[in-house]
Amino acid sequence: MSKKVLITGASGLLGRAIYQEFKKDSTWDVLGLAFSRAGEQLKKVDLTNSDELTRVVKEFQPNVIIHSAAERRPDVVENQADATKQLNVDATRNICNVGASVNAWVLFISTDYVFDGLNPPYDVNAVPNPLNKYGLSKYEGEKVTLASSSENSVLRVPILYGPVERLDESAVTVLFPKVKNTGNKCVMSNYERRYPTYCPDIAVVIRRLSDIRLKNNDVKGIYHWSGDENMTKYDMAVVMAECFGISTNHIEADNSASPGAPRPYDSHLDTSRLDDLVLVPRSPFKDSILKVLKDYYP
Ligand SMILES: NC(=O)c1ccc[n+]([C@@H]2O[C@H](COP(=O)([O-])OP(=O)(O)OC[C@H]3O[C@@H](n4cnc5c(N)ncnc54)[C@H](OP(=O)(O)O)[C@@H]3O)[C@@H](O)[C@H]2O)c1
Repeated sequence: MSKKVLITGASGLLGRAIYQEFKKDSTWDVLGLAFSRAGEQLKKVDLTNSDELTRVVKEFQPNVIIHSAAERRPDVVENQADATKQLNVDATRNICNVGASVNAWVLFISTDYVFDGLNPPYDVNAVPNPLNKYGLSKYEGEKVTLASSSENSVLRVPILYGPVERLDESAVTVLFPKVKNTGNKCVMSNYERRYPTYCPDIAVVIRRLSDIRLKNNDVKGIYHWSGDENMTKYDMAVVMAECFGISTNHIEADNSASPGAPRPYDSHLDTSRLDDLVLVPRSPFKDSILKVLKDYYP
C-alpha cells in the first residue's frame, strides 16, 4: 500500500520537524505545504483559498493529512479574530472536507490552551474551557475536525521548542537574548506552569502514530502528548543560563499572572492514551535546549 502524507504548516516550528521526520523514512511519500516560506521543497498553498487547497489534495491523494498550520500567537489572535478564524477554523473545515473526499485520515494539531488550567492533569475526555481567543479558535478547529469525520484525530500539545530559524520563533527560545544580556536586569514569569515539549520528539510520535493508523482504524479521536518537566518561564531561563555557564543574578522571578491574553495556570496534559500506543522518550529540557541554542551563543 502506498503511504502518502501531506503536512500543512511545514515551514513552521513544529511542521518543519514533522516534515523532516517523515522525509527520513523512505516508506513515506511526503508533500509539505507552506505559505510565505514556501520554496524548492515546500509547495505554496494559501490554506484560506479552498479551490487551491482542493486542487493540491486531489492531485496528491494523501492517506494522511497532518494539519499543523495555524495562527498560534495568543496576543495576535486577540486583535485579529476574523483572520484567525479563517485559518484556524474555516481552512480546517476545508481540509477535513477535501480529506474525506480522498479518504485521508486528518490529524489536527491543537493545544493545551483549550483548557482553563484550573484542574490538571487533563485527560482526553476532559471538557475544554478556553480562556483566550486563541484557545477558543483551536477548540473550534477541533470540533470541526471531529464533526467532519469520526475517523479523524486531534493531537493536543503544550508550549513548543526545537531548532529555530530565529530565536523569537518559539515562546521558549525568545527568552534567550534576555538571559544572555547579563548587564540588564530581566523579569521572567514565574507563575504559569508549563511543560516545554521538543518538536522532534512530537514528530516521532506523529510518524509512528500515522503508521499505526494505516493498519488500525481504532486510531481516532483525541490524543495528548507533552514533555514531562513542569517549569515556569523563569525556570527555563535559569536552565538556559546554567547550560552556558551564564550568571543568573540579573534574572528576577515575577510571581504574578502574565500580562496580555489570559493564560491557563496549569494545563498539564495526561498523555496516557497515546503513551499506551506509542512510547517515545521525552528529551530532557537541559540537553535539547543546549542543542537548540548553541548556535546563538555567545
Ligand atoms: N508553538 C507553540 O508553542 C504551540 C503550542 C501548542 C500548540 N501549537 C500548535 O502547533 C501547531 C504548529 O505551531 P507552530 O508553532 O509550528 O506554528 P508556526 O511556527 O507559527 O507556523 C505556522 C505555519 O502556518 C503556516 N501558515 C500561516 N498562514 C497560512 C496560510 N494562509 N496558508 C498556508 N499556511 C499558512 C505558516 O506558513 P509560512 O510561515 O510559510 O507562511 C507556518 O508554516 C499549530 O497548530 C499550533 O496551534 C503550537
